[in-house]
Amino acid sequence: MEGFLADASRHLRVCAEGRTPVRFGVDLGTATIVLTALDDEGRPAYWDFVRATVVRDGVVVDFQGAVDAVRTLKSRAEATLGITIDEAATAHPPAVPASDCRACHFVLQQAGIECRALVDEVTAANALLQVRDGAVIDVGGGSTGVGVFRSGELVSLSDQAGGGHQLDLILAGALKLSIEDAEVRKREHGADVASLLRPGIERIAESIRRQCGGTPPGTVHLAGGALRLPQADTVIARYLGWPVRAYDHAELITPFGIAVS
Ligand SMILES: Nc1ncnc2c1ncn2[C@@H]1O[C@H](COP(=O)(O)OP(=O)(O)OP(=O)(O)O)[C@@H](O)[C@H]1O
Ligand SMILES: [Mg+2]
Repeated sequence: MEGFLADASRHLRVCAEGRTPVRFGVDLGTATIVLTALDDEGRPAYWDFVRATVVRDGVVVDFQGAVDAVRTLKSRAEATLGITIDEAATAHPPAVPASDCRACHFVLQQAGIECRALVDEVTAANALLQVRDGAVIDVGGGSTGVGVFRSGELVSLSDQAGGGHQLDLILAGALKLSIEDAEVRKREHGADVASLLRPGIERIAESIRRQCGGTPPGTVHLAGGALRLPQADTVIARYLGWPVRAYDHAELITPFGIAVS
């Protein structure tokens, strides 16, 4: 897994040499919209992202903005890769109504991409992680999704508000910064603000604990960009008292998992 993610991370806006992208995924996130590509052997071939706030709480709130973001990603990929992207998979957060899921489908369609599969984010993440027993967590900008797997079966799936954006709000309040500046400070000087953000990270841990029904689910696998802060996994593990596994480039797990789906 670490090998796949490290490999994938090297192909931001560049095509992996000797790999022809054939399978695509689009992640319509709260903080970032990501396009990923795999070759015919399932190896990461390319990825790209734009930051956009067109989705809130798993719901597309700015339809045209979302379409424009996907169009940008599609045309950049096609120019770089010399191919056309006709279809892709996409994902929605667990527990969003079917009507909102359909919006994801329409965003792709309007951007000229046929939606070949629509899965929930946690299932997508696990298409890559392949956890058989344990919990898969996706902590993104807006929400924390939790799926518990037993013998390879998904036995519970839920989602609660709370993620990286809430950490931005805490930081903005504590340091009297705008939310935009707080976001930059968090990403670029994470170690310096770790202690300020600890209660916010513990709140995410509490959300995970609650969504797991309070009982240890086995190892907790952390996907998503929000916990890329130094020591965040340690804070989560201490709070829960459960085994936790973090991944470098955890923000790529769900987007590439979508392409795998
Ligand atoms: N280096 C970093 N350090 C701390 N936080 C980071 C870092 N990089 C990204 N983040 C945070 O991760 C979040 C985005 O993660 P991700 O891309 O997984 O979310 P998303 O898919 O857009 O949102 P969601 O899944 O909730 O819809 C943002 O809140 C961002 O601030
Ligand atoms: Mg996400």
